[in-house]
Amino acid sequence: MLEADARDRVIVAIDCDRDRALELADSLSGHARWLKVGMTLFYAEGPQIVRTFKERGFKVFLDLKFHDIPHQVRGAARSAALAGADLLSVHGLGSGDMLAACREGAEDAASVCGDRPSLVAITVLTSMNQDALGEIGIEAPVADEAARLAVLAQRNGIDGIVCSPMEAESMRALLGPDALIVTPGVRPAGAALGDQSRVATPSQAIVRGASHIVVGRPITGAADPVEAFERIVSELVDEI
Ligand code: C5P
Repeated sequence: MLEADARDRVIVAIDCDRDRALELADSLSGHARWLKVGMTLFYAEGPQIVRTFKERGFKVFLDLKFHDIPHQVRGAARSAALAGADLLSVHGLGSGDMLAACREGAEDAASVCGDRPSLVAITVLTSMNQDALGEIGIEAPVADEAARLAVLAQRNGIDGIVCSPMEAESMRALLGPDALIVTPGVRPAGAALGDQSRVATPSQAIVRGASHIVVGRPITGAADPVEAFERIVSELVDEI
């Protein structure tokens, strides 16, 4: 894989407070291209944190996992796009109408600010097992449910999905070559697992079909985050 391509495929999850987030952004500037802002940072700092990262030249995955009535999700997608997010997440479980509204909100913003952010759907959260699905009345096997929601999302204008590296291969076959397939649960060989259980290495995730990998603590918790990021890029360049 080309180095420029490898850099574009690693999204660094910045799950920390503002001071540490800015420190990480400053040191990763010129190395990483993508940062992921999740609920922890966003609900503390608001859309300004997206603008701050954009001003430093990063692309931003705003991972707020929208799930509400279509009207509200249309507005959420529009606001997030206007804040400058390049990639947004939405729950597939919210219905085809809600997914279509998400796309409409993103398109509406694009008519004001230029580019439409890309959209990815959460199918079944990787923290949910068969028992947890049963608790909310879904008896289908987890893999079938995830596949059904992925297709529903694609039919309603969503560009791809978030899934575990274990599902990347089957999702790539199901959704085709152009779909975004974003996989967290990535750990370089030898890295601490933290609370992730079903993990793959960066190159395994890409070989299985991921378009982008999300890596947080193996980079942000490393003594030298830039070195940890560059090691992942080198692994992708050398092995793919
Ligand atoms: O630190 P770590 O590499 O485990 O971070 C993974 C990131 O991906 C976190 O921001 C986490 O919220 C997110 N994520 C995940 N598993 C999912 C969906 C999102 O770990 N199924």
